[in-house]
Amino acid sequence: MASKWFETVAVAQRRARRRLPKSVYSALLAGAEAGVTIRDNVAAFSELGFAPHVAGLAATREMATTVMGQPISLPVLISPTGVQAVHPDGEVAVARAAAARGTVMSLSSFASKPIEEVVAASPQTFFQMYWVGSRDDMAARMERARAAGAVGLIATLDWSFSFGRDWGSPHIPEKMTLREMIRMAPEGLSRPAWFMEWARTGKFPDLTVPNLPVGGAAPPTFFGAYGQWMASVPPSWDDVAWLRSQWGGPFMLKGVTRIDDAKRAVDAGVTAISVSNHGGNNLDGTPATIRLLPDIARTVGDQVEVLMDGGIRRGGDVVKALALGARAVLIGRAYLWGLAAAGQAGVENVLDLLRSGIDACLLGLGHSSIAELSPDDLVIPPGFTRRLGG
Ligand SMILES: Cc1cc2nc3c(=O)[nH]c(=O)nc-3n(C[C@H](O)[C@H](O)[C@H](O)COP(=O)(O)O)c2cc1C
Repeated sequence: MASKWFETVAVAQRRARRRLPKSVYSALLAGAEAGVTIRDNVAAFSELGFAPHVAGLAATREMATTVMGQPISLPVLISPTGVQAVHPDGEVAVARAAAARGTVMSLSSFASKPIEEVVAASPQTFFQMYWVGSRDDMAARMERARAAGAVGLIATLDWSFSFGRDWGSPHIPEKMTLREMIRMAPEGLSRPAWFMEWARTGKFPDLTVPNLPVGGAAPPTFFGAYGQWMASVPPSWDDVAWLRSQWGGPFMLKGVTRIDDAKRAVDAGVTAISVSNHGGNNLDGTPATIRLLPDIARTVGDQVEVLMDGGIRRGGDVVKALALGARAVLIGRAYLWGLAAAGQAGVENVLDLLRSGIDACLLGLGHSSIAELSPDDLVIPPGFTRRLGG
Protein backbone atom coordinates (compact mmCIF):
# COMPACT_ATOMS: atom_id res chain seq x y z
CA MET A 1 0.00 0.00 0.00
CA ALA A 2 1.31 3.45 -0.88
CA SER A 3 2.50 5.49 2.12
CA LYS A 4 -0.08 7.89 3.46
CA TRP A 5 2.68 10.23 4.58
CA PHE A 6 3.10 13.36 2.44
CA GLU A 7 6.18 15.52 2.17
CA THR A 8 4.62 18.97 1.70
CA VAL A 9 1.30 20.68 2.20
CA ALA A 10 1.02 21.02 -1.58
CA VAL A 11 1.08 17.21 -1.86
CA ALA A 12 -1.63 16.98 0.81
CA GLN A 13 -3.72 19.48 -1.16
CA ARG A 14 -3.41 17.37 -4.31
CA ARG A 15 -4.52 14.30 -2.36
CA ALA A 16 -7.43 16.23 -0.87
CA ARG A 17 -8.49 17.26 -4.34
CA ARG A 18 -8.46 13.66 -5.52
CA ARG A 19 -10.22 12.34 -2.43
CA LEU A 20 -12.97 14.89 -1.75
CA PRO A 21 -16.13 15.41 -3.78
CA LYS A 22 -15.71 18.54 -5.88
CA SER A 23 -18.18 20.60 -3.85
CA VAL A 24 -16.45 19.76 -0.54
CA TYR A 25 -13.01 20.48 -2.00
CA SER A 26 -14.09 23.84 -3.38
CA ALA A 27 -15.77 24.77 -0.08
CA LEU A 28 -12.32 24.47 1.52
CA LEU A 29 -10.55 26.25 -1.30
CA ALA A 30 -13.01 29.12 -0.77
CA GLY A 31 -11.59 32.62 -1.40
CA ALA A 32 -13.63 35.62 -2.53
CA GLU A 33 -14.47 37.35 -5.79
CA ALA A 34 -11.37 37.61 -8.03
CA GLY A 35 -9.09 35.83 -5.54
CA VAL A 36 -6.67 38.77 -5.21
CA THR A 37 -6.31 38.36 -1.44
CA ILE A 38 -6.17 34.57 -1.29
CA ARG A 39 -3.36 34.62 -3.88
CA ASP A 40 -1.47 37.45 -2.23
CA ASN A 41 -1.62 35.69 1.17
CA VAL A 42 0.51 32.88 -0.26
CA ALA A 43 2.52 34.77 -2.89
CA ALA A 44 3.74 37.45 -0.46
CA PHE A 45 5.67 34.81 1.50
CA SER A 46 7.61 33.99 -1.69
CA GLU A 47 8.70 37.61 -1.99
CA LEU A 48 10.59 37.29 1.30
CA GLY A 49 13.99 35.63 1.27
CA PHE A 50 16.30 34.23 3.95
CA ALA A 51 19.80 35.36 4.95
CA PRO A 52 21.43 32.11 6.15
CA HIS A 53 24.75 31.49 7.93
CA VAL A 54 27.10 28.59 7.17
CA ALA A 55 29.05 27.91 10.37
CA GLY A 56 28.56 28.40 14.07
CA LEU A 57 25.07 26.95 13.75
CA ALA A 58 23.10 25.82 16.80
CA ALA A 59 23.13 22.09 17.59
CA THR A 60 19.72 22.26 19.27
CA ARG A 61 16.82 24.54 18.49
CA GLU A 62 13.89 25.61 20.71
CA MET A 63 10.48 26.41 19.31
CA ALA A 64 8.15 26.02 22.30
CA THR A 65 6.25 29.12 23.38
CA THR A 66 2.98 30.17 24.98
CA VAL A 67 -0.12 31.76 23.51
CA MET A 68 -2.80 33.23 25.77
CA GLY A 69 -1.27 31.31 28.67
CA GLN A 70 -1.23 27.95 26.86
CA PRO A 71 2.14 26.25 26.48
CA ILE A 72 2.59 24.98 22.91
CA SER A 73 5.43 22.88 21.51
CA LEU A 74 5.64 24.84 18.26
CA PRO A 75 4.48 28.37 17.31
CA VAL A 76 1.56 27.10 15.24
CA LEU A 77 -2.08 26.86 16.34
CA ILE A 78 -5.10 25.37 14.64
CA SER A 79 -7.29 28.17 13.28
CA PRO A 80 -11.06 27.79 13.55
CA THR A 81 -12.82 26.46 10.44
CA GLY A 82 -16.14 24.73 10.01
CA VAL A 83 -15.05 21.37 8.60
CA GLN A 84 -18.48 20.15 7.64
CA ALA A 85 -18.36 17.03 5.47
CA VAL A 86 -14.57 16.77 5.10
CA HIS A 87 -14.16 13.78 7.39
CA PRO A 88 -16.58 11.92 9.70
CA ASP A 89 -14.45 12.73 12.76
CA GLY A 90 -14.17 16.37 11.64
CA GLU A 91 -12.98 18.76 14.32
CA VAL A 92 -12.54 15.91 16.83
CA ALA A 93 -9.82 14.41 14.60
CA VAL A 94 -8.20 17.84 14.31
CA ALA A 95 -8.34 18.30 18.08
CA ARG A 96 -6.75 14.88 18.68
CA ALA A 97 -3.94 15.77 16.28
CA ALA A 98 -3.39 19.14 17.95
CA ALA A 99 -3.21 17.45 21.36
CA ALA A 100 -0.86 14.75 20.07
CA ARG A 101 1.48 17.39 18.69
CA GLY A 102 1.25 19.76 21.65
CA THR A 103 -0.64 22.72 20.31
CA VAL A 104 -3.92 24.57 20.66
CA MET A 105 -7.13 23.63 18.86
CA SER A 106 -9.52 26.45 17.96
CA LEU A 107 -13.12 25.40 17.37
CA SER A 108 -15.37 27.42 15.08
CA SER A 109 -18.87 28.25 16.26
CA PHE A 110 -19.92 27.01 12.79
CA ALA A 111 -18.13 23.69 13.28
CA SER A 112 -19.76 20.30 12.86
CA LYS A 113 -18.89 18.87 16.31
CA PRO A 114 -20.07 20.00 19.75
CA ILE A 115 -17.56 21.88 21.89
CA GLU A 116 -17.89 19.23 24.64
CA GLU A 117 -16.57 16.47 22.32
CA VAL A 118 -13.75 18.65 21.07
CA VAL A 119 -12.55 19.68 24.55
CA ALA A 120 -12.61 16.00 25.54
CA ALA A 121 -10.20 15.35 22.64
CA SER A 122 -8.04 18.41 23.37
CA PRO A 123 -8.18 20.25 26.70
CA GLN A 124 -6.24 23.11 25.07
CA THR A 125 -9.22 24.34 23.05
CA PHE A 126 -10.15 27.93 22.24
CA PHE A 127 -13.77 28.54 21.23
CA GLN A 128 -14.37 30.95 18.34
CA MET A 129 -17.48 33.10 18.05
CA TYR A 130 -18.97 35.25 15.35
CA TRP A 131 -21.44 37.91 16.44
CA VAL A 132 -24.74 36.09 15.95
CA GLY A 133 -27.92 37.33 17.64
CA SER A 134 -28.14 39.39 20.82
CA ARG A 135 -25.77 39.89 23.76
CA ASP A 136 -27.83 37.32 25.66
CA ASP A 137 -27.35 34.78 22.86
CA MET A 138 -23.63 35.48 22.79
CA ALA A 139 -23.39 35.13 26.58
CA ALA A 140 -25.27 31.80 26.51
CA ARG A 141 -22.88 30.33 23.88
CA MET A 142 -19.90 31.66 25.74
CA GLU A 143 -21.08 30.10 29.02
CA ARG A 144 -21.58 26.76 27.29
CA ALA A 145 -17.99 26.93 26.03
CA ARG A 146 -16.75 27.84 29.51
CA ALA A 147 -18.68 24.98 31.10
CA ALA A 148 -17.24 22.61 28.48
CA GLY A 149 -13.74 23.67 29.50
CA ALA A 150 -12.61 25.99 26.67
CA VAL A 151 -9.44 27.76 27.80
CA GLY A 152 -9.72 30.81 25.54
CA LEU A 153 -12.23 32.72 23.46
CA ILE A 154 -11.70 34.01 19.93
CA ALA A 155 -13.99 36.68 18.50
CA THR A 156 -13.81 36.75 14.71
CA LEU A 157 -15.24 39.96 13.34
CA ASP A 158 -13.95 40.17 9.76
CA TRP A 159 -16.91 39.00 7.74
CA SER A 160 -18.90 41.06 5.25
CA PHE A 161 -21.20 38.48 3.61
CA SER A 162 -19.77 39.16 0.18
CA PHE A 163 -20.29 36.16 -2.03
CA GLY A 164 -19.42 34.98 -5.49
CA ARG A 165 -16.12 33.63 -6.79
CA ASP A 166 -14.89 33.90 -10.34
CA TRP A 167 -14.02 30.17 -10.16
CA GLY A 168 -17.50 29.28 -8.93
CA SER A 169 -19.00 28.44 -5.54
CA PRO A 170 -20.04 24.87 -4.71
CA HIS A 171 -23.61 23.75 -4.29
CA ILE A 172 -24.08 23.18 -0.56
CA PRO A 173 -27.45 21.65 0.29
CA GLU A 174 -29.62 23.20 2.99
CA LYS A 175 -30.21 19.73 4.42
CA MET A 176 -29.17 16.20 3.47
CA THR A 177 -32.61 15.10 2.26
CA LEU A 178 -33.16 12.03 0.09
CA ARG A 179 -33.51 14.34 -2.91
CA GLU A 180 -30.17 16.01 -2.16
CA MET A 181 -28.50 12.65 -1.66
CA ILE A 182 -29.69 11.50 -5.06
CA ARG A 183 -28.55 14.78 -6.60
CA MET A 184 -25.10 14.49 -5.00
CA ALA A 185 -24.70 10.74 -5.44
CA PRO A 186 -22.62 10.91 -8.65
CA GLU A 187 -20.19 13.32 -6.97
CA GLY A 188 -19.93 11.19 -3.82
CA LEU A 189 -19.60 7.92 -5.69
CA SER A 190 -16.84 9.36 -7.85
CA ARG A 191 -14.82 9.63 -4.63
CA PRO A 192 -15.13 6.07 -3.25
CA ALA A 193 -12.55 6.45 -0.44
CA TRP A 194 -14.39 9.49 0.96
CA PHE A 195 -17.75 7.84 0.43
CA MET A 196 -16.72 4.61 2.20
CA GLU A 197 -15.30 6.52 5.13
CA TRP A 198 -18.71 8.08 5.72
CA ALA A 199 -20.60 4.89 4.84
CA ARG A 200 -18.67 3.00 7.54
CA THR A 201 -20.04 5.42 10.16
CA GLY A 202 -23.58 4.79 8.94
CA LYS A 203 -24.09 8.57 8.69
CA PHE A 204 -23.81 11.28 6.09
CA PRO A 205 -22.79 14.89 6.71
CA ASP A 206 -25.87 16.45 8.27
CA LEU A 207 -24.63 20.03 7.82
CA THR A 208 -25.95 21.27 11.13
CA VAL A 209 -24.25 23.68 13.51
CA PRO A 210 -24.37 22.22 17.04
CA ASN A 211 -22.61 25.07 18.89
CA LEU A 212 -24.96 27.83 17.85
CA PRO A 213 -28.39 27.10 19.38
CA VAL A 214 -29.31 28.70 22.70
CA GLY A 215 -32.06 27.87 25.18
CA GLY A 216 -32.36 24.20 24.23
CA ALA A 217 -33.20 24.85 20.55
CA ALA A 218 -32.27 22.21 17.97
CA PRO A 219 -29.04 22.82 16.04
CA PRO A 220 -29.79 24.93 12.97
CA THR A 221 -28.73 23.94 9.48
CA PHE A 222 -25.61 25.64 8.16
CA PHE A 223 -27.68 28.05 6.07
CA GLY A 224 -30.13 28.59 8.91
CA ALA A 225 -27.21 29.62 11.09
CA TYR A 226 -25.80 31.80 8.33
CA GLY A 227 -29.19 33.52 7.99
CA GLN A 228 -29.26 34.28 11.75
CA TRP A 229 -25.80 35.75 11.45
CA MET A 230 -26.71 37.93 8.46
CA ALA A 231 -29.74 39.25 10.31
CA SER A 232 -27.67 40.22 13.39
CA VAL A 233 -26.67 43.81 14.11
CA PRO A 234 -22.86 43.99 13.66
CA PRO A 235 -21.02 44.50 16.97
CA SER A 236 -19.68 47.85 18.19
CA TRP A 237 -16.38 48.29 20.02
CA ASP A 238 -18.49 48.49 23.22
CA ASP A 239 -19.85 45.03 22.37
CA VAL A 240 -16.30 43.74 21.92
CA ALA A 241 -15.27 45.16 25.32
CA TRP A 242 -18.47 43.71 26.84
CA LEU A 243 -17.81 40.24 25.43
CA ARG A 244 -14.22 40.42 26.57
CA SER A 245 -15.26 41.34 30.12
CA GLN A 246 -18.01 38.71 30.28
CA TRP A 247 -15.52 36.03 29.32
CA GLY A 248 -12.89 37.24 31.76
CA GLY A 249 -10.24 34.77 30.60
CA PRO A 250 -7.81 34.83 27.67
CA PHE A 251 -9.47 36.55 24.68
CA MET A 252 -8.35 36.95 21.06
CA LEU A 253 -9.73 39.31 18.45
CA LYS A 254 -9.22 37.70 15.04
CA GLY A 255 -9.40 39.59 11.78
CA VAL A 256 -7.44 42.77 12.51
CA THR A 257 -5.76 44.38 9.48
CA ARG A 258 -5.49 48.05 10.53
CA ILE A 259 -3.39 49.86 13.09
CA ASP A 260 -6.35 51.88 14.41
CA ASP A 261 -8.35 48.67 14.96
CA ALA A 262 -5.36 47.05 16.67
CA LYS A 263 -5.22 50.00 19.07
CA ARG A 264 -8.95 49.76 19.74
CA ALA A 265 -8.55 46.06 20.44
CA VAL A 266 -5.93 46.95 23.05
CA ASP A 267 -8.37 49.49 24.56
CA ALA A 268 -11.06 46.78 24.66
CA GLY A 269 -8.71 44.74 26.84
CA VAL A 270 -8.01 41.79 24.56
CA THR A 271 -5.19 39.38 25.36
CA ALA A 272 -4.23 38.76 21.74
CA ILE A 273 -5.05 39.72 18.18
CA SER A 274 -4.64 37.77 15.00
CA VAL A 275 -3.70 39.83 11.97
CA SER A 276 -6.02 38.05 9.56
CA ASN A 277 -8.07 38.58 6.42
CA HIS A 278 -10.03 35.34 6.94
CA GLY A 279 -7.72 33.48 4.58
CA GLY A 280 -8.78 35.68 1.66
CA ASN A 281 -12.45 34.79 2.17
CA ASN A 282 -13.64 38.25 3.21
CA LEU A 283 -13.15 41.54 1.32
CA ASP A 284 -11.14 40.73 -1.77
CA GLY A 285 -8.34 43.26 -2.25
CA THR A 286 -7.31 43.25 1.41
CA PRO A 287 -3.50 42.92 1.39
CA ALA A 288 -1.73 39.72 2.44
CA THR A 289 -1.53 39.56 6.22
CA ILE A 290 2.25 39.08 6.20
CA ARG A 291 2.49 42.57 4.64
CA LEU A 292 0.32 44.06 7.41
CA LEU A 293 1.94 42.26 10.32
CA PRO A 294 5.19 44.25 10.80
CA ASP A 295 3.61 47.66 11.48
CA ILE A 296 0.84 46.23 13.64
CA ALA A 297 3.34 44.18 15.68
CA ARG A 298 5.57 47.26 16.11
CA THR A 299 2.61 49.36 17.28
CA VAL A 300 0.82 47.05 19.75
CA GLY A 301 3.20 44.09 20.18
CA ASP A 302 4.32 45.25 23.61
CA GLN A 303 0.72 45.45 24.85
CA VAL A 304 -0.97 42.34 23.44
CA GLU A 305 0.14 39.08 21.88
CA VAL A 306 0.21 39.50 18.11
CA LEU A 307 -0.49 36.44 15.98
CA MET A 308 -1.15 36.20 12.28
CA ASP A 309 -2.87 33.82 9.92
CA GLY A 310 -3.23 33.56 6.16
CA GLY A 311 -1.13 31.74 3.58
CA ILE A 312 1.01 29.59 5.90
CA ARG A 313 1.97 26.49 3.92
CA ARG A 314 5.45 25.59 5.22
CA GLY A 315 7.76 26.01 8.18
CA GLY A 316 9.63 28.80 6.40
CA ASP A 317 6.41 30.85 6.30
CA VAL A 318 6.06 30.48 10.07
CA VAL A 319 9.66 31.63 10.55
CA LYS A 320 9.10 34.67 8.30
CA ALA A 321 6.02 35.64 10.31
CA LEU A 322 7.89 35.30 13.60
CA ALA A 323 10.84 37.30 12.23
CA LEU A 324 8.37 40.09 11.37
CA GLY A 325 6.89 40.22 14.86
CA ALA A 326 4.32 37.43 15.28
CA ARG A 327 4.36 35.44 18.50
CA ALA A 328 2.85 32.47 16.66
CA VAL A 329 0.66 31.76 13.63
CA LEU A 330 -2.64 30.01 13.02
CA ILE A 331 -3.16 27.66 10.10
CA GLY A 332 -6.37 27.00 8.17
CA ARG A 333 -6.21 25.28 4.79
CA ALA A 334 -2.90 23.55 5.52
CA TYR A 335 -4.52 21.31 8.15
CA LEU A 336 -7.76 21.02 6.21
CA TRP A 337 -5.81 19.44 3.32
CA GLY A 338 -4.13 17.12 5.82
CA LEU A 339 -7.47 16.16 7.38
CA ALA A 340 -8.98 15.47 3.97
CA ALA A 341 -5.96 13.44 2.86
CA ALA A 342 -5.54 11.24 5.93
CA GLY A 343 -7.75 12.24 8.88
CA GLN A 344 -6.05 12.79 12.25
CA ALA A 345 -2.76 11.38 10.92
CA GLY A 346 -2.87 13.88 8.05
CA VAL A 347 -3.23 16.83 10.45
CA GLU A 348 -0.34 15.44 12.51
CA ASN A 349 1.65 15.09 9.28
CA VAL A 350 1.08 18.78 8.52
CA LEU A 351 2.11 19.86 12.02
CA ASP A 352 5.22 17.66 11.75
CA LEU A 353 6.13 19.24 8.41
CA LEU A 354 5.77 22.72 9.86
CA ARG A 355 7.86 21.71 12.88
CA SER A 356 10.68 20.27 10.77
CA GLY A 357 10.52 23.26 8.41
CA ILE A 358 10.82 25.71 11.32
CA ASP A 359 13.71 23.68 12.69
CA ALA A 360 15.52 23.67 9.32
CA CYS A 361 15.18 27.46 9.08
CA LEU A 362 16.42 28.01 12.64
CA LEU A 363 19.43 25.81 11.86
CA GLY A 364 20.21 27.62 8.61
CA LEU A 365 19.73 31.04 10.14
CA GLY A 366 22.07 30.17 13.00
CA HIS A 367 19.53 30.46 15.81
CA SER A 368 18.99 28.27 18.84
CA SER A 369 15.48 29.58 19.51
CA ILE A 370 12.53 31.22 17.78
CA ALA A 371 13.03 34.08 20.27
CA GLU A 372 16.17 35.11 18.32
CA LEU A 373 14.37 35.65 15.00
CA SER A 374 14.30 39.22 13.67
CA PRO A 375 13.87 41.08 10.35
CA ASP A 376 17.65 40.79 9.97
CA ASP A 377 17.12 37.11 9.07
CA LEU A 378 15.09 38.06 6.02
CA VAL A 379 15.56 39.64 2.62
CA ILE A 380 12.66 42.09 2.46
CA PRO A 381 12.07 43.78 -0.89
CA PRO A 382 11.41 47.54 -0.84
CA GLY A 383 7.73 48.38 -0.56
CA PHE A 384 6.83 44.93 0.79
CA THR A 385 4.80 46.05 3.80
CA ARG A 386 1.43 47.79 3.89
CA ARG A 387 0.31 50.08 6.69
CA LEU A 388 -3.44 50.57 7.04
CA GLY A 389 -5.31 52.96 9.31
CA GLY A 390 -2.64 55.02 11.01
C1 LIG B 1 -13.10 26.51 4.72
C2 LIG B 1 -12.77 27.58 5.70
C3 LIG B 1 -13.63 27.84 6.76
C4 LIG B 1 -13.34 28.84 7.69
N1 LIG B 1 -14.18 29.03 8.75
C5 LIG B 1 -13.84 29.93 9.71
C6 LIG B 1 -14.62 30.06 10.88
O1 LIG B 1 -15.64 29.38 11.04
N2 LIG B 1 -14.22 30.95 11.81
C7 LIG B 1 -13.10 31.73 11.66
O2 LIG B 1 -12.76 32.52 12.54
N3 LIG B 1 -12.34 31.62 10.56
C8 LIG B 1 -12.66 30.73 9.60
N4 LIG B 1 -11.86 30.57 8.51
C9 LIG B 1 -10.61 31.36 8.43
C10 LIG B 1 -9.47 30.61 9.12
O3 LIG B 1 -9.64 30.54 10.51
C11 LIG B 1 -8.13 31.31 8.86
O4 LIG B 1 -8.25 32.68 9.18
C12 LIG B 1 -7.67 31.16 7.42
O5 LIG B 1 -8.02 29.90 6.89
C13 LIG B 1 -6.16 31.34 7.35
O6 LIG B 1 -5.70 31.26 6.04
P1 LIG B 1 -5.07 29.92 5.42
O7 LIG B 1 -6.21 29.03 5.09
O8 LIG B 1 -4.36 30.42 4.21
O9 LIG B 1 -4.15 29.32 6.47
C14 LIG B 1 -12.15 29.60 7.56
C15 LIG B 1 -11.27 29.33 6.49
C16 LIG B 1 -11.57 28.34 5.57
C17 LIG B 1 -10.61 28.08 4.45
